Amino acid sequence: MDIIRVEGGHALAGSVCVSGAKNSALKLMAATLLAPGVTTLQNVPNISDVHVMGKVLKRMGATIEVADEHSLVIDTSNVDSWEAPYELVAKMRASTAVMGPLLGRFGRAKIAMPGGCNLGARKIDMHILGLEALGVKFDTDHGYIHADASEGLIGANVTLEFASVGATENLIMAAVRARGTTVIDNAAREPEIVDLANMLNSMGAKIVGAGTPVVQIEGVKELHPTTHRVIGDRIEAGTFIVAGALAAGEDGIEVRGFNSNHLGMVIKKFELMGIDIEHIEGGVRVRRAERILPVDIQTLPFPGFPTDMQAQAMVLSALADGSSVITENIFENRFMFASELVRMGADIRIESHHAMIHGVKGFSGAQVVSPDLRGGAALVVAGLVADGYTEVSAIHHIDRGYEHFVKKLEDLGACVQRATIPDPTDE
Ligand code: UD1
Repeated sequence: MDIIRVEGGHALAGSVCVSGAKNSALKLMAATLLAPGVTTLQNVPNISDVHVMGKVLKRMGATIEVADEHSLVIDTSNVDSWEAPYELVAKMRASTAVMGPLLGRFGRAKIAMPGGCNLGARKIDMHILGLEALGVKFDTDHGYIHADASEGLIGANVTLEFASVGATENLIMAAVRARGTTVIDNAAREPEIVDLANMLNSMGAKIVGAGTPVVQIEGVKELHPTTHRVIGDRIEAGTFIVAGALAAGEDGIEVRGFNSNHLGMVIKKFELMGIDIEHIEGGVRVRRAERILPVDIQTLPFPGFPTDMQAQAMVLSALADGSSVITENIFENRFMFASELVRMGADIRIESHHAMIHGVKGFSGAQVVSPDLRGGAALVVAGLVADGYTEVSAIHHIDRGYEHFVKKLEDLGACVQRATIPDPTDE
């Protein structure tokens, strides 16, 4: 069993460069299906979710060459299957992002139904309703969704009930090949959607309004391959900002490789908590907060506070001088992390989708289990300032989205290592 072991109390210094955004890279990889030929993606993070998406594409007949650690050369010329199999979708729900591109290129897709995950039910009904408006017919059997648009996709007006990231992306990737114009109202505005639209436009698509609530897509007859650089990962950056706010030495730490505008609301809230964040070229410098102030946060679609930063923000507020409330509005089951932080001495009470957090003086190192990707990283960060040793298990969750997490923390001066230990529950 792999764990990350952290010894608390070591000051951080220096600079960390974040990797490419996981949530962008996965969709951009799916989008390569739309253009037969060789597309190069740069600044792709070397993380397990990207490896899973690589397997999905290869199953369909694509070839992928890893040109250097962060560049993928994806040849989709010989793709001849439109199926995302269960064993891969079950590993990573974001595999469903191939549905839009497959419909765009082949007019059909067969996708395993994703089922629930540890963030709750995570339905895809909005993807389906939106695609139905574009003329797609759906059928389900034996755990698979069969999508058929063999008579061609037709542009339509779609109003999303909720600004879903995944539904907006799937709709955009189908609509680029539809006959006529599609307008998506109440579209998600996340920076990763802008990145996707930029790449699709460089492939010959005609998308305007990405990053606003109304996205207009004029369908085109074909798309061509391109070369595209993935944006920096704002959530990885936010995670290191929390590490710096808690554990940086006198000079603070630099977090680089991302656009700080993508973290606008996070930086605003952290500044209200008394954290000193200075904008520098290509990122920010963050200094350790002598006193953390309590704050109320609610997660919302972009430009609101991202749900993917909720656990990391909870670590900060758990050490604040006073009481905070964090409200989770996006996912139904995203507070599992709190009970692990309580094992480290935090004082947190959960009521429905609210967490009431009373600041404590410090954490005590403990054995904790990573409940999900962001929660796992947040536990490691909490360990940086805990008394003694913290051992975080189930770190495959962290590997899904943080490239070389341990090495990056080590380079900043943290005392952290990855270790393989016998599973204590084995006889
Ligand atoms: C993406 C991100 C994830 C982030 C989330 C919200 C990727 C790979 N993942 O997930 O890291 O936390 O955006 O910023 O990019 N919903 C429905 N029906 C649907 C679609 C969504 O009910 O058809 C619900 C979901 O269950 C969830 C909420 O809407 O409660 C938000 O989901 P969505 O914005 O679609 O998130 P994802 O694209 O799954």
